[in-house]
Amino acid sequence: MSNAIRVSEDLYYIGVSDPDLRTFDIIMKTANGTTYNSYLLKTEDGVIILDTVKEEFQDEFFQKIESLCSYDEIKYIIMHHLEPDHSGALAELTCRAVDAKVFISPMAQPMLKSIAKSDTIKFETVWTNKELKLGSKTLKFLSTPNLHWPETMSSYLVENKVLFSGDVFGSHYYDSRLFDDLVGDFDYAFKYYYDHIMRAFKSHVVKALNIYETLDIDIICNLHGPIIRKNPKKYIELYKKWSHVQERIHGKKIVSIFYVTSYKNTKNMAHSIYDGLQGSENIIANIYDLTALDEQNMIAILEESTGVIIGSPTINGDVPKVVWELLSCMMVLEKLGKIGGCFGSYGWSGEAIEMINSRLKALKFRVPLTPIKIKLIPTKTELYECYSFGVEFGEIVNGKMVEINL
Ligand code: FEO
Repeated sequence: MSNAIRVSEDLYYIGVSDPDLRTFDIIMKTANGTTYNSYLLKTEDGVIILDTVKEEFQDEFFQKIESLCSYDEIKYIIMHHLEPDHSGALAELTCRAVDAKVFISPMAQPMLKSIAKSDTIKFETVWTNKELKLGSKTLKFLSTPNLHWPETMSSYLVENKVLFSGDVFGSHYYDSRLFDDLVGDFDYAFKYYYDHIMRAFKSHVVKALNIYETLDIDIICNLHGPIIRKNPKKYIELYKKWSHVQERIHGKKIVSIFYVTSYKNTKNMAHSIYDGLQGSENIIANIYDLTALDEQNMIAILEESTGVIIGSPTINGDVPKVVWELLSCMMVLEKLGKIGGCFGSYGWSGEAIEMINSRLKALKFRVPLTPIKIKLIPTKTELYECYSFGVEFGEIVNGKMVEINL
């Protein structure tokens, strides 16, 4: 077990390390393991604990607390995020620090009792402009939801110029040297973490950055990986750059058509839709054969596209794997404001088109047009229908209002 480590005046790191972890949250590779960061602030009038750790590491966490204070000194517990990697030790902590009050965001309220395994937990909800004063320390709460759960928040320790950012600015990267100026090069892990956790919430990242920019920040105490103290601005600027929403090129919106085809029937439909989009002002239409796109390209194209139209045949009553792969890329992207559509040629039953349509809706795309299903080889009239679909889709992307059938 390592000891508690001083971060700045009266502030200590009491987090734990998980160096052997190789997969986080099922989807992320963690070649360097990770850490579950937690902090302890001492004041003349008592102690504040900021976040806890994953339950299986709680013994080490409690030993670190005990090396710094007694449990009856703990007055407050700040929970910036209730995901179990940070709230795992909360139930036991509230049993030991029986007088402590827990501070959470209002959105966290429905979850708190089940996580704390108690109906009688003392808590208070807080948001931007609320302050906690204890001794000579002032903690300002900041509402920064959806980073990466709806209930997340941040806080700022005024006297120490420390931002407690929650998952934001984290990385899954364990290095016992702890601070960004002492650890190895973790840039790859910082970007990978952003891409897999924060990218899907870009618009919320931008809102949080607007709040953080009003603060004078010397140290960022995040919830995973190295604490940032050498150059916090560098990491704030990276988040700003990555979160810039690029959905226009030369002032025009992008509509991307992705298709797969067995006998060129779906391909011909795709090209007719593409032709229909060509006349739309303020739109750049693109068309892609999905079988020749790798995942990183799919993600990049989806991210910049306001409109996404997917064409697919039906194979054995299902959607071909490559189309599912395209749809699964959306997990790491923000869907807000995106418009979807689908089409396809089929031989017998054509289930794939309905499945894609349902999936787009489930992903929270706006899906305004009825999908086009054509049996086998499209006729000239049917290709004209596809052309008209493209025209109307373009009009909708440009702001035309239509009633949506749910
Ligand atoms: Fe590190 Fe969203 O939990």
